[in-house]
Parts: sequence; C-alpha cells; structure tokens
Amino acid sequence: MSPILGLNSPTASANAARHVAIIMDGNGRWAKSRGLPRTLGHQAGVNALKRTVEAAPELGIQWLTVFGFSTENWRRPVSEVSELMALLKRYVASDLDRLEAEGVRIRVIGRRDDLAPDILAVIERAEARTRFNERFNLQVAFNYGGRADIACAARAYARAAIAGEVSPDAADEAGFERFLSTAAGPPPDLIIRTSGERRLSNFLLWEAAYAELVFQDVLWPDYGPEHLKAAMDEFLARERRYGGADVDDVRAAG
Ligand code: FPP
Repeated sequence: MSPILGLNSPTASANAARHVAIIMDGNGRWAKSRGLPRTLGHQAGVNALKRTVEAAPELGIQWLTVFGFSTENWRRPVSEVSELMALLKRYVASDLDRLEAEGVRIRVIGRRDDLAPDILAVIERAEARTRFNERFNLQVAFNYGGRADIACAARAYARAAIAGEVSPDAADEAGFERFLSTAAGPPPDLIIRTSGERRLSNFLLWEAAYAELVFQDVLWPDYGPEHLKAAMDEFLARERRYGGADVDDVRAAG
C-alpha cells in the first residue's frame, strides 16, 4: 500500500472509476526540456507506466487501458518507431513474470497485420501467459486507432452477415460493439490525458461516449500515483447522467 494513497482513500470507494484509460502524452517535451533525445522520454514513460499499473488496483481500478502506439505514430522518424516497438518488447521481457504472478491479465488492442513477427510473438505470449488472470486487466492499445477499429468491426460484421452468422438488422449498438477490439471489457469511465493537450486523438472513439475526461498538465514521464489519485478524485466529484436528468432536479420539478 502506497503511503500517498492510504487505506481510507476516498478514491477506493464504490463509485470509483472501474475502467480508466490514459493517453500518455508528453514524453517528447519531457526529453526536450532536458536536452535529451525523444527516445529517452519514451523510456522514462515506461517507468511512469509501471508506477501507474502498480498504483491502479488500490484505487479501485479494475481495467486500465493505455495508448502505447497509435496508427498515426508510424509517421514519426524510423528510429523513434523502432524504439517504441523495442520498448514494448523490453516491458514484456522485464515485467511479464511479475504481472502474471500478480494476477494481471494483459490484452493488446489494435491492428496486428502490419506489426513485425517478433512484436506479434511478444504480444501473443503476454496474452497467452496471463489469459486466466482476473485480478486486474491491463489493456495496451498498440498500433491502435479508434476509427480504424470501428472500420475493422464494420468489416467483420459484414463478413459475419454474409456468412449468415448475424442478421444485418441486428447491428444495433450492442450487436455491433461485440466486434470492436475492446469487446472483452466495459467502456472506460474515465479517460485521462497528460501534458495539457485536450484532445482524444483517435483514442477509444466509440467507447468514450459517456466517459469523463480529465486533462492533467503533468508530462507523462513525471506521472505517478498522486496524479492518478487526483484524477480519480476529480472523477468522483463529477455527476454522471448518461444523457438523463439529475434525479433531484426531476423530483423538484414535480
Ligand atoms: C506521446 O508522447 C507518447 C507516445 C506516442 C508513446 C507512449 C509510449 C510510452 C509511454 C512508452 C511505453 C509504452 C509501452 C506500451 C511499452 P509524445 O512523444 O507525443 O510527446 P510530445 O507530445 O511531448 O512530443
């Protein structure tokens, strides 16, 4: 138990966000402000990810989805893309045994068809080794884009319809979202973006429909349990209505 969070932390309450998703932004600016190459910012970002994964369960979080590599990130210099690929491999190599022992189930969402065989093998190994774990779910969006995922689900639905497995008329929201790569888990309650940017940047577009958004100024490599707790406390102070009205307002209006 971290002394920052404390046993009686209000964030561990029944209303805590069960699924938190994070856009881990600011690695490049963190490195630049120190006169370091961007790749070192990403390396420091992995350490922030490790701190966050460790802190999340005691805040009541059961699902954590992190944006590790977007379908747009291929436009970055080859050396940076290679480093992001290598970081995923190194993260799995260094942490898989511990995550598996701690009951963490790892899932990776995103396109797999243009990933190199060695990256695919790492992803498949991490998912296979942790597939019976249930204590905590770590979902890594890697080569992921929200629009691409929706388009992919539409293609899969069309193929299933042609095969006679589903009816085109059954493509309502619940019927369709079973084909998204996020279908295994609940939608995010809270989406956090660090570094002060206020955009979704193609992250979980369908799933974000009723998520609370929290933007924090901290650059991702500096992120830690205290920032996650602050975001969770801000979430708790929000009123979620899912398009409905406040119950007290309805009563007051008679
Ligand atoms: C955004 O910062 C961050 C990324 C594009 C990658 C996030 C990756 C990590 C934290 C590395 C670990 C990930 C895994 C899954 C092992 P940016 O580079 O866009 O920062 P900037 O906006 O300051 O330039």
